[in-house]
Amino acid sequence: MTTFANRMFEGRTALVSGGGSGINQRIAERLAEQGASVALVGRTQSKLDAVASGIIAAGGKSAGFAADVRDYDALLRSSAAAHEQFGAISIVVCGAAGNFPALANAMSANAFKSVIDIDLLGTFNTCRAAYEHMDPAGASIVTISAPQAVQAMVMQSHVCAAKAGVDMLTRTLALEWGPLGIRVNGVIPGPVADTEGMDRLAPAGPVRDALAAQLPLRRVATKDDIADMVVFLCSDAAKYVTGAIIPCDGGMTTASIAIQTPRSATRHG
Ligand code: COA
Repeated sequence: MTTFANRMFEGRTALVSGGGSGINQRIAERLAEQGASVALVGRTQSKLDAVASGIIAAGGKSAGFAADVRDYDALLRSSAAAHEQFGAISIVVCGAAGNFPALANAMSANAFKSVIDIDLLGTFNTCRAAYEHMDPAGASIVTISAPQAVQAMVMQSHVCAAKAGVDMLTRTLALEWGPLGIRVNGVIPGPVADTEGMDRLAPAGPVRDALAAQLPLRRVATKDDIADMVVFLCSDAAKYVTGAIIPCDGGMTTASIAIQTPRSATRHG
């Protein structure tokens, strides 16, 4: 774990979508370690409560406010509740995402739409709802993108389309909200160990080992690698950075390496 200036987010409120598990949970924990009060948003209240309890047990401040990111009104209620409990929001991490490997011709229109709705519309909804309860001076929004935003990948047409949209949304919000004091940046995590998404796309074993062997840094990421990048983007060290989409991927996108998901990982075999 990288050590930053101690508790640099003291007195600030962070809202993290998808914070009930995976990379986003680790991001939430790292923001809390740095003093932020962390509002966790996700579909399942019990998962959020478990993460919040862990943060509180470690001496931090956190609570879960369940909402499906596809539901703008629910997000608005969660943002309002977070504002009321912890104060105006000044850090937002848009991490909620959905994925499954499927060829385009094995996917219904509704399947494609469900990922666009979670990833792209969900990111807009999260930013838009949080904006209503934001203290814009010095605020930072970080969207979680994916290599699929910049690299076509077989069985990922829905995610490629959604994440490319997320990147352009990130850049556009940076233009529109920069004058208000809100920085908006994105992170492209490469393959991250111990995550549901990685287990689906590159199951542990030969597929993952082959992927790691191709990466310039010769290993997949840890959740801390990604959380550290988010902490950096929210910190004063990044105070002149906005509209940037930063790969944190061990060189995956620079090397144009695509994940070769085995056909056996799909529902249709
Ligand atoms: N292959 C093809 N189609 C699939 C699929 C697969 N593996 N998994 C889901 N779908 C389709 C469903 O059949 C449905 O389409 P239909 O109505 O035409 O049958 C559509 O996707 C929506 O599925 P649903 O089960 O209603 O899920 P949802 O709307 O709650 O969407 C998903 C969530 C689809 C992203 C689901 O995969 C999910 O909940 N994943 C867990 C979170 C996750 O993906 N984490 C990884 C983050 S990178």
